[in-house]
Amino acid sequence: MDPDRPRLAASHALWERARRVMPGGVYGHQNGAALGDGHPRFLARAERARVWDVDGNEYVDWMCAYGPMILGYGHPAVEAAVAEQLAAGDCLPLPGPRMVELAERLVRLTPRGDLVVFGNNGADATSWAVDVARAHTGRPLIARVAGAYHAARPWALPRTPGVPRSHQDELVEFGWNDLDGLRALFTAHPDRIAVVMTTPFDHATGAAPALGFFDGLRALCDAHGALFAMDDVRAGFRFHLGGSCEHFGAAPDLICYSKAIANGHALSAGLARESLRGAAERVYFTGSFFFASGAFAAALATLEVLEHTDAIARIQRIGRLLTDGLAEQARRHAVPLLPVGQPAMPVVRLADDPDRRRTRRFCSLVTAAGAYAHPGHNWFVSAAHTEEDVARTLEASERAFRTVAEEG
Ligand SMILES: Cc1ncc(COP(=O)(O)O)c(C=O)c1O
Repeated sequence: MDPDRPRLAASHALWERARRVMPGGVYGHQNGAALGDGHPRFLARAERARVWDVDGNEYVDWMCAYGPMILGYGHPAVEAAVAEQLAAGDCLPLPGPRMVELAERLVRLTPRGDLVVFGNNGADATSWAVDVARAHTGRPLIARVAGAYHAARPWALPRTPGVPRSHQDELVEFGWNDLDGLRALFTAHPDRIAVVMTTPFDHATGAAPALGFFDGLRALCDAHGALFAMDDVRAGFRFHLGGSCEHFGAAPDLICYSKAIANGHALSAGLARESLRGAAERVYFTGSFFFASGAFAAALATLEVLEHTDAIARIQRIGRLLTDGLAEQARRHAVPLLPVGQPAMPVVRLADDPDRRRTRRFCSLVTAAGAYAHPGHNWFVSAAHTEEDVARTLEASERAFRTVAEEG
């Protein structure tokens, strides 16, 4: 990098161009400007667990594209499988054999999955699960944990501009680990709740399910004739190859995957128990790119690596190395770091920081020192992260904790 050039000049220049032709500059969650001036706004390239911004700055990437990158950017086996498939044909008027192979593979790997559909994004899979549950039960309501993110769709974001108010009545909420709250919802809405959708742990805080939470949730669903859908879009494959429900001890009827399933290629999957075959055959589910074979080839190669290497154990181990290191530094500098939750997907936040001012400052300093750190979203660990990546990050965080402690 040219030392005379401001660190993020090209990022900011591209942002000014973006603002003129795209709503909000960059819409949605991949908006670097929302993280503050210390964060880059556009990335130029990536390799393994490193990314380079448009100014040429290199970062250890702890966001992994918000989850999809699980084996490393440009993983040779995945990219070779994709290249071979693209040369043969990708988006054709009929599906190819890879689709069936992948469905068979997922059914083999997933103890609680007997039937599979594929889409492109996580929202395709979670919306399909809702449709199947409604078709199966003949009921309209969706119960979710308060504020949980499941899709950029009206049923999941009924209070956003442009969405008719009627969608608000379709969504009811209870607290994470709050079985009494869920029981009260079933009592308040008898024979109306089609599905209870949860994530395998609380993504906002990283909190694990309390002992008995998922058993109790299952029992309530059974007692009231509702289905249980596990939204494993974000966590899927970082904890267990057969679904995070196997790791956290849950027994859902429906499972939704996306993000990491194809190591960065656009794919999602919805899985259902055999008992839901009738409903799954009745709902309408399709899309122009749902049957493209390149992403299926990527997923087959990704699952092959995950199944035959220690990738998942490595993700857990590297995550613990990183988060133990952060916790030790925070203690030493007397900075109140909250418990990070799941080391493979840690939530890095400071206590007593309601507007996240100190958390943002900390993450901005860590990012400027070469480890991309998000102040408002859980981080992601991949199998491509190394001990050296952790060491480089902890070097940056050591200085950042010291600064944050001094600044108060
Ligand atoms: C838990 C969860 N469910 C569903 C989704 C929606 O996935 P997508 O953005 O691919 O539609 C996300 C996306 O972040 C998610 O984190």
